[in-house]
Amino acid sequence: MYNGLIDRYRQWMPLQASDTVITLQEGNTPLIAMPRLAAAISEHVTLYAKFDGMNPTGSFKDRGMTVAVSHAVSQGFKVVMCASTGNTSASAAAYAARAGVRCVVLIPGGKIALGKLSQAVAHGAKIIAIDGNFDTALSLVRELCNEHPIALVNSVNPFRIHGQKTAAFEVIDQLGEAPDYHALPVGNAGNITAIWQGYNEYRKAGLSNSMPAMLGFQAAGAAPIVLGRAVDNPETVATAIRIGNPASWSGALKARDESNGRIESVTDDEILSAYRLLPSLEGIFVEPACAAPVAGLLNLGKSGFFTKPCVVVLTLTGHGLKDPDCALGLAETPQLVPAEKSAVLKAIGL
Ligand code: F0G
Repeated sequence: MYNGLIDRYRQWMPLQASDTVITLQEGNTPLIAMPRLAAAISEHVTLYAKFDGMNPTGSFKDRGMTVAVSHAVSQGFKVVMCASTGNTSASAAAYAARAGVRCVVLIPGGKIALGKLSQAVAHGAKIIAIDGNFDTALSLVRELCNEHPIALVNSVNPFRIHGQKTAAFEVIDQLGEAPDYHALPVGNAGNITAIWQGYNEYRKAGLSNSMPAMLGFQAAGAAPIVLGRAVDNPETVATAIRIGNPASWSGALKARDESNGRIESVTDDEILSAYRLLPSLEGIFVEPACAAPVAGLLNLGKSGFFTKPCVVVLTLTGHGLKDPDCALGLAETPQLVPAEKSAVLKAIGL
């Protein structure tokens, strides 16, 4: 029986044998072939999506949270805390509930997708909205956790990174080899750091022969790494990656440069059109942040970046149900017709 990623990858985790494991059977997410989207990107691309929206709380954050909360609880912490654009808070709240400890989350007021907020509420977290953005929330959380017996469970906590690196392990285990490229959205930059670390660890252990080039994508209104400077007032429709001063900035640069990869930006218009395209072509519904790498791959395809047959893995970091407002905001309200066969036929156009 699959029992979560700590159990599956225990030898790669910096945990003691006696540590308590808090798991919701996260990880083991599907790697789904995406032939129709691949064709839209480039004739040379074979594309797979690592659908991390299939984790228990609907995002990749569960990979890191199982390790961070297991460690915190094993160390005797009774309170965990994070700053979040939404998914981290949903995941922290769920794992804290599972562990029977308190969870406090600091969120940027008015900028959290509905699904994520409702998860933190359901799991009983103390939710504090601040009049400020994610970056400000994270610096407050870092100070508070330094000064009080509270475990910080943002990705600046190395245990989060150890959990998230398992996405790379799974990709290699599923594909049999590392892909040529690995594309993903970049916000606070923990995930690109973690996935690059995972590919490195498997390579060093002889479990893969090659390494992918990492392709990170930021939203144009929140693209500090692309611009090479912090952004004071980040703005983007992809609220998950609305971050102006990533904590793992240096990890992202290391992943980009060591892998011979790229970190680029995509506009909100490009994000929204990729956000509409992906579920209509492939039947996979994701939140707007996931559309950033889709848009980025489409741009790279258009510019002739892919010149020979290659395998691309795309991490889809969060489920579409996280942000129903975004989907509905782009759609027409369903037409209301009388409850009669003739009216329905007419509405179909038959
Ligand atoms: N995709 C989604 C759906 C996210 O929620 C996040 C980050 C990212 C991508 C970017 O990952 O920060 O490791 O570069 N969400 C954080 C949060 C910031 O608070 O939920 P990253």
